Amino acid sequence: MSKEKVVLAYSGGLDTSVCVKWLQEEMNLDVIAVLGNVGQEHDGLEKIKEKALSLGVVACEVVDMRQEFVDQYVSCAIAANAMYENKYPLLSALSRPLISAHLVQAAHKYGATCIAHGCTGKGNDQVRFETSIMTLDPFLKVIAPVREWDLGMRPDEIAYAKKRGVPVPVTTEAPYSIDDNLWGRAIEAGVLEDPWNEPPADIWTMTVDPAEAPDTPTYVEVGFEKGIPCSLDGEKMGMVELIEKMNRIAGENGYGRIDMIENRYVGLKSRECYEVPAGLALIAAHKALEDLCLERDVLHAKLSLEQAWADQVYNGRWFSPYKQAIDAFMASAQDMVSGTIKLKFYKGSCVVAGRKSACALYDQNLATYDNDDAFDQKAAKGFIDIQALSLKTWAIKKSQVAQQQEASSVKLDVVSGTCPACDQAVNY
Ligand code: ARG
Repeated sequence: MSKEKVVLAYSGGLDTSVCVKWLQEEMNLDVIAVLGNVGQEHDGLEKIKEKALSLGVVACEVVDMRQEFVDQYVSCAIAANAMYENKYPLLSALSRPLISAHLVQAAHKYGATCIAHGCTGKGNDQVRFETSIMTLDPFLKVIAPVREWDLGMRPDEIAYAKKRGVPVPVTTEAPYSIDDNLWGRAIEAGVLEDPWNEPPADIWTMTVDPAEAPDTPTYVEVGFEKGIPCSLDGEKMGMVELIEKMNRIAGENGYGRIDMIENRYVGLKSRECYEVPAGLALIAAHKALEDLCLERDVLHAKLSLEQAWADQVYNGRWFSPYKQAIDAFMASAQDMVSGTIKLKFYKGSCVVAGRKSACALYDQNLATYDNDDAFDQKAAKGFIDIQALSLKTWAIKKSQVAQQQEASSVKLDVVSGTCPACDQAVNY
C-alpha cells in the first residue's frame, strides 16, 4: 500500500532538512518539498532542490512566488500603509500566507493529506502557516515537527542529522535567526536577545551604516498609479524591479533599519531588528500621496482600518473575511492615489521633499494666504455658529441651572472642582 503524503515547506536549512527525515522515519510519510522564491537571499535554488532530492523526497517543487508576492501581497500592504505596532512593515507576516497557498495547492496536486512546516512553537510564523492552511482547506492535517520532536537543543539535532546523512553546515553556527524576502529582512536571537545590547554591525546586510553613507543627498521620484508604485525617476517598471532598485538606493544611504521590542501574538515580547529600506521608503511616499489625494473622512477612517489590517495580517488572518473586507475599503480608497512623490535620502534619513498629483484635493487657490484666494472667509462665521450650536445651548443651560440652584433655598453640598477652560479652582 502506498504511503500517505505530506507537503513540506522546505528552505534548505538544517531544520527543514531534518524535518524531511523525521517525517519519513517517525511518521512514515512520503515527503513532497515545496521551495518558494519570495526574493530571499539564497545560494542557488537548484542546489537546494538537489539537496531535498538527496534526502529522498518524492518530489520537490521550486516555485517563483515573487510576482504574486508583489501583486497580491505587497501591493495590499502598501495600500494599507502596513505597520504592525506602528513600526514593523510585516515582511515575514506577508510571505507566510502566500507560501501556505502554494503548500495547499501542492497538497491538492499530489493528493497529500498533510502539510508540514519547520517553525518552532514560540513564534508567529507557525500561527500564520496553520491559520492560513486551515482557512484555505480545513480538511488538511498540519504537522509541526520542530514543535513535536524530542531533539531538544541544537547538538541533538545535529547528531540526529549526521546519523541520517543530512548535510550539516561546516561553518560555525549562524549567530542569528534570519527571515528575508523582497520586502525586507528580519534578524533575531543571539546577542540581540538582550535588549540592552546595541545591534552589532554585522547583522545588517541591506543597509550601510548611516555614518558611512554618502555626504550628498540622493533624490528619487516615485510614481504611483492607484496606490501602486510604478516608476522611479520617470522610468516605468514592474514592482519587483522597483522594490529591488529602491532597496539599493535607500540601503546605500543607510536608510531602513528598525530595532524594536515587539508583542508576538503568542503572548511574549521579543527583540527584533529589521532592514526594510524599500518598504519604509515606499510606505512613506504612499502616505504622503494619500495626504494630498484622499478626502478627509476617508483618510481618517483609513487610519484606524490600517491598524486593524496590520493586526489581522500579523496574527496570521490573511484569508479572513474581515481582512478581505478591509482590503475592499483600501482598494476603493486607492482610486485617487496617483501622482509623484520626491524622496530625499541622506545619511540614514528619508524625507518627502515634494509631491504632485493630478488627483490632488489640495487646492492652492483655497489654501493660499494671498489676497486673491477662493475661500469665502465671511462664510466661516455661519459655519462656526452652527457647528457650535449644541455646545452653546448646553453652556447657556448649564449657567441657568447653576443660578437657579444658587438662588433656591435648598442648600446643595458645595463641590469643589477645576474649571475645564481656565484651570482655576471653582465651587459648584
Ligand atoms: N517577528 C517577526 C514576525 O513575527 C519576524 C519573524 C521572523 N521569522 C523568523 N523565522 N525568523 O513577523
